[in-house]
Amino acid sequence: MLFDIDRRAFIASLGGAAAVNLMSHEARADALEEYSIRKLDEDVASAQSGQARTSSAAAGQAEKFPTMADIEARIDGSPTRRGVGNLFVGSSTRPITRLEPMPKRPTLTDFFEKRFKVAGSYNHVLQSATRALKTGMTEEVILACLLHDVAQAIMRVDHGWWGAQLFEPYIPEKSAFGIRYHQALRFYADEANGYEYPDLYRRTFGVDYTPEPYIEDTYKMVRKHKWYIEPRMVTVNDLYAFDPNAIVTMDPFVDIIGRHFKQPKEGLGFDNSPVAHMWRSIAFPDHPL
Ligand SMILES: [Fe+2]
Ligand SMILES: [Fe+2]
Repeated sequence: MLFDIDRRAFIASLGGAAAVNLMSHEARADALEEYSIRKLDEDVASAQSGQARTSSAAAGQAEKFPTMADIEARIDGSPTRRGVGNLFVGSSTRPITRLEPMPKRPTLTDFFEKRFKVAGSYNHVLQSATRALKTGMTEEVILACLLHDVAQAIMRVDHGWWGAQLFEPYIPEKSAFGIRYHQALRFYADEANGYEYPDLYRRTFGVDYTPEPYIEDTYKMVRKHKWYIEPRMVTVNDLYAFDPNAIVTMDPFVDIIGRHFKQPKEGLGFDNSPVAHMWRSIAFPDHPL
């Protein structure tokens, strides 16, 4: 989730992220006029995760999370559905713009620089992978962290499954396992491994949310799996990864990508793999059909 400089300035002008969270829904709507409340909630949540508890505690106040009904009520009249891919959505303050053309035989790095950056998950995944690198994770886990949320460019709903499918032909099995199942594991604490249920999810899903049965079943399966630690470590490195000010680049990951990502010589999208159309959809999101 990339944090736009205008939004940061705007949130700061309202007294900071903590202050925005304490405002009523109506007050925010007035203050922000045309601003998309959904996007703001996401940006505030992103910027605050890892800091929210500390800042609320420092202010002596408990953060007030929305309920599922509060979140449901925001659907009517919204211009887009919450699950739509980030590459396809603009907002009234950040309309979509023309995209840089892709090279003839695009590589993973081309997609990072020319598409995932625009879609907004670039900073987040690089920060997660940087943390994984610093905490001594295996290269399979570091790669999973680097790729874990970028499929949100095409689809946010079930992004773990979409992401694993997108990368599966090109990466180690353990990395794909980590990407697919981090989504379900995010809902379940594992204190022994350093993972707490995140406040971000109380904001995003509602304080009274419980995961759907397919997520629960997936969790139970993965919990007993011999590769449980792979997706679990993606969630552990995911949790503290939001920092709107951190400067990150692809450089530290070039060797890991070189060793573990099987770049097709025809370019991603043109290798006739079962997922080539998914890469083309990311390359050409302006095609009408
Ligand atoms: Fe994720
Ligand atoms: Fe993430």
